[in-house]
Amino acid sequence: MSSAFTPRVFSGIQPSGGLTLGNYLGAIKRFVDMQADDFETIYCMVDLHAITVWQDPEVLRRNTRELCAGFIASGIDPEKSILFNQSQVPEHAQLGWIFNTVARMGWLNRMTQFKDKAGKNRENASVGLFAYPALMAADILIYHATHVPVGEDQKQHLELTRDIAAKFNHDYGVDFFPITEPVIEGAATRVMSLRDGSKKMSKSDPSDMSRINMTDDADMIAQKIRKARTDPDALPSEIKGLDDRPEARNLVNIYAGFADLSPEQVLAEVGGKQFSEFKPMLADQAVAKLAPISIEMARLMEDTSEIDRILHRGAERARAVAAPILKQTYDIVGMVS
Ligand code: TRP
Repeated sequence: MSSAFTPRVFSGIQPSGGLTLGNYLGAIKRFVDMQADDFETIYCMVDLHAITVWQDPEVLRRNTRELCAGFIASGIDPEKSILFNQSQVPEHAQLGWIFNTVARMGWLNRMTQFKDKAGKNRENASVGLFAYPALMAADILIYHATHVPVGEDQKQHLELTRDIAAKFNHDYGVDFFPITEPVIEGAATRVMSLRDGSKKMSKSDPSDMSRINMTDDADMIAQKIRKARTDPDALPSEIKGLDDRPEARNLVNIYAGFADLSPEQVLAEVGGKQFSEFKPMLADQAVAKLAPISIEMARLMEDTSEIDRILHRGAERARAVAAPILKQTYDIVGMVS
């Protein structure tokens, strides 16, 4: 990080479907923990990113509000953090366009998320899906954000963000955009399916038993953990003992995420226990943390005017930061104003 920039945290989540335990442990809980008095935290529902693949408009609206409810119910304080949806801050798209001219085709061609999402039929993918990482760089750099908490799968996009910042600074002979640091930490940055420890927990998995949804109630959470796939052996006392045991590793990581422990610390506590004993411990943790969140989300969703007011206010605060940075960018690039 360039020390000339004051620390500022930015991250985003797509409002493209139900929220899972993966979103909670891998992202939202960490966003909550990063809220502090001495630097700004900016959290965004990236609706412009979501539409790079088809979204039903009514469903998108609902998902955006539900994501906002999930943030607040999990402990994001909309006074402390700036909480808003991307499309209400047009500076993201405006800087995104500039970055479309900075990013190289070759760079974007290497992005694995595009390859995964576009699948076999690349000719039919939207141009937006291809240009997605340039908009993501704009999300971050329009605030001169220095730190971005993300999951492991976003590492490549963060590297691209750094490349874009560096090329812009170099091409225009300025030291304007910070070289952002990804913050990828915690045991649960990658929460796996409860049915198959080699697959990421996903809202699009056909089996609802493969995931814990942030809207699941206490009974459902406990049931899903009870039924989670495991192997017949007892838990090891050392981390090495989780090699080739992806399901066991996943449950240990989830426990570690809830309890704010390292997997090593968890194994020191539970090594030698059978899953019949460990699963109820895990279920207790999960229910204690998640059930109040799902109740609060449901309450917030009953009257979405409060959510809309929070998003609107967050967007105003975000624009106050973003607008001057966009203006300076335009000046650097040579736009007449
Ligand atoms: N690409 C991220 C994801 O799919 C979402 C995202 C968009 C994001 N813009 C961002 C994350 C900026 C961090 C910072 O999860």
